[in-house]
Amino acid sequence: MQIESQKTFSEWLSDLPKAELHLHIDGTLQAHRLLSLAKKNDIALPYSTQEQVEAAYQFENLQSFLDLYYLGASVLIDESDFYHLMMDYLLKCKEQNIVHAEIMIEPQTYAPNGVSFVTMMRGFDRAIEQAQQEWGQSVALILSFLRHLDEDQCLETLEQARAFKQSFVAIGLASAERDNPPAKFARLYRAAQSQGYRTTAHAGEEGPANFIWDSLRVLNVERIDHGVRCVDDTALLNHLIKQQVALTVCPLSNTKLCVFDDMSQHNILDLLDRGLLVTVNSDDPAYFGGYLNENFLTLHEHLSMTREQALRLVENSFKASFLNDGDKVRYLEELSQAAKAS
Ligand code: ADE
Ligand code: ZN
Repeated sequence: MQIESQKTFSEWLSDLPKAELHLHIDGTLQAHRLLSLAKKNDIALPYSTQEQVEAAYQFENLQSFLDLYYLGASVLIDESDFYHLMMDYLLKCKEQNIVHAEIMIEPQTYAPNGVSFVTMMRGFDRAIEQAQQEWGQSVALILSFLRHLDEDQCLETLEQARAFKQSFVAIGLASAERDNPPAKFARLYRAAQSQGYRTTAHAGEEGPANFIWDSLRVLNVERIDHGVRCVDDTALLNHLIKQQVALTVCPLSNTKLCVFDDMSQHNILDLLDRGLLVTVNSDDPAYFGGYLNENFLTLHEHLSMTREQALRLVENSFKASFLNDGDKVRYLEELSQAAKAS
């Protein structure tokens, strides 16, 4: 199918209603906000200007990024900090026409700094309610666990979350993948599923293809965050195609963290054309040089992604979301109308 339009790719893409399924709220902490919160909360950082912070966005691998990411999150202390962090991202959603966002929040990051679940959730909820009321923003929260911690700590956090269960649609698993295999969290996933949470987990980003298998078979997850290493295992590829297991792929993240040497090496369009349910996402946009639209633009620029491919990727995001079937149909219809009008 050839999509005819007078608009540039960028204009055309911006006008489409989109969903984002893989986004860590701490990964949206912009340098100016980091510095102003550090000053307000009297937290010492090794940076004093925005330029110095941004100069540190050079990563060799996932761990080198995580070190900066956790340092950044240490400036979040009171309710208004969490409100501003969430509101900054939701305003980006409005600007980029991201009508539905599934956002990972990681309470285990803040707990060592004395931040309670209540403080965090009050700030996040206030921003989300405002965005829902002011421009109809749709948001679903994912309670994301840190896999470098032990499973008992994660089970304790799951218990603390009981009082906020209605705020979360799913659980997820993030942080250092190497040496922290999915099987370490089998009890956590079983407990969360029995409480009615839906499920996703990071796998096959830096870790091997068998971490994707184990996430599916041991943790029973519904979708996989990243998953780009699936190409190393033909049986896995066939399984992902047959079962239409969604992969939430993050192109700019993958090149910034050296999962691929450069964007021209990225496999997302190959996976799409083989029939996998792949989606485009931004992961940690403040650190990786772009939000959702910029992730699409880089694929257009470096992999010659066509409008037809981009449209399929946007459709996939609604299909792979944790929305109910009625909302999926409604958003897919809005997308189809917007694509026809463009
Ligand atoms: N936490 C934030 N970004 C992450 C990523 N790309 N992989 C694993 N954990 C993360
Ligand atoms: Zn991620």
